[in-house]
Amino acid sequence: MATILITGGTGVVGRFLSKKLKDKGYSVATLGRASKNGSEINTYTWDIEKNEIEKEALEKVDYIIHLAGANISESKWTAKRKKIIIDSRVKSAQLIFEKLKENTNQVKAFISASAIGYYGAISTDKIFSETDTPANDFLGETCLKWEQAADRFEELGIRVVKIRTGIVLTKQGGALAKMITPIKLGIGSPIGNGKQYLPWIHIEDLCDIYIKAIEDAQMKGVYNAVAPDHKTNRDFTKTLAVVLRKPLWFPNIPALVMKIIFGEMSVMLLKGSRVSSEKITNAGYKFKFPNLKETFVNLLVENTK
Ligand SMILES: NC(=O)c1ccc[n+]([C@@H]2O[C@H](COP(=O)([O-])OP(=O)(O)OC[C@H]3O[C@@H](n4cnc5c(N)ncnc54)[C@H](OP(=O)(O)O)[C@@H]3O)[C@@H](O)[C@H]2O)c1
Repeated sequence: MATILITGGTGVVGRFLSKKLKDKGYSVATLGRASKNGSEINTYTWDIEKNEIEKEALEKVDYIIHLAGANISESKWTAKRKKIIIDSRVKSAQLIFEKLKENTNQVKAFISASAIGYYGAISTDKIFSETDTPANDFLGETCLKWEQAADRFEELGIRVVKIRTGIVLTKQGGALAKMITPIKLGIGSPIGNGKQYLPWIHIEDLCDIYIKAIEDAQMKGVYNAVAPDHKTNRDFTKTLAVVLRKPLWFPNIPALVMKIIFGEMSVMLLKGSRVSSEKITNAGYKFKFPNLKETFVNLLVENTK
């Protein structure tokens, strides 16, 4: 079976994807900032600032999945933090590109994460699709640079796939863990006017899309990875409360409060439009979890070990 190298493989998506790939018989290695002693998975290290990458990391790799990136919601978007967010995605891809360019390589595809932030922090009636242009805001700019860094691998004859991802719903970590706490405490409520859309995807579906991008040589270019069930922030909160059997007593959290707490980053919570899943579906992908309520039941009720 092919060998897959995952950058940022220690993150929420990387851990889940590594396990799924291993279970399918792939040989999996990760590339990260620190080596992980005792890990079941081969781990290689890199130092992006110093342009260093462990030589063996790229030696026998058939596919690279680029997930590395500083978390976008971990801290306020100061100028310094914005640079870290962009560099960790772009300079890291550039480093791999330069190292591959130095020697002949056997890499068949470079598959990069991207995000629906490409379409911008706006609330409209429009349903965004892959042919839309990037937004002129921080996330739009970040995703554009991230995708352009991925596109460079085409110069080496490597197939490039970019997965524009919605909010990933998973049992462990990620956005859902943060959303359920206030609801469980009985203090949950929609954010702002609650009408902003929240494009989402079950982690199983996202990882299966990555695996399809490895196995389906016809996949090329950009694909949205979002479920077809378009839900607003209000729908999301209500559905979560129903599944957790909790009441929603409180009025919406005012937008101003979010702006004071989160600064510019609050746009991620206050704005959002619908995003189309048509292209990936037309490419033959069938969602296992197309429906939000069933996804919550799967993650929070059926699957609570
Ligand atoms: N989860 C979501 O809802 C979501 C939605 C849209 C897009 N995405 C994108 O999908 C990718 C994977 O998401 P995730 O949820 O698994 O992310 P995550 O849990 O935050 O993990 C990302 C990994 O990137 C590496 N990393 C962190 N800071 C870094 C830095 N400054 N420089 C280089 N590497 C750094 C870390 O790996 P090491 O410690 O091993 O280096 C980390 O485990 C990310 O690029 C993310 O932006 C995620």
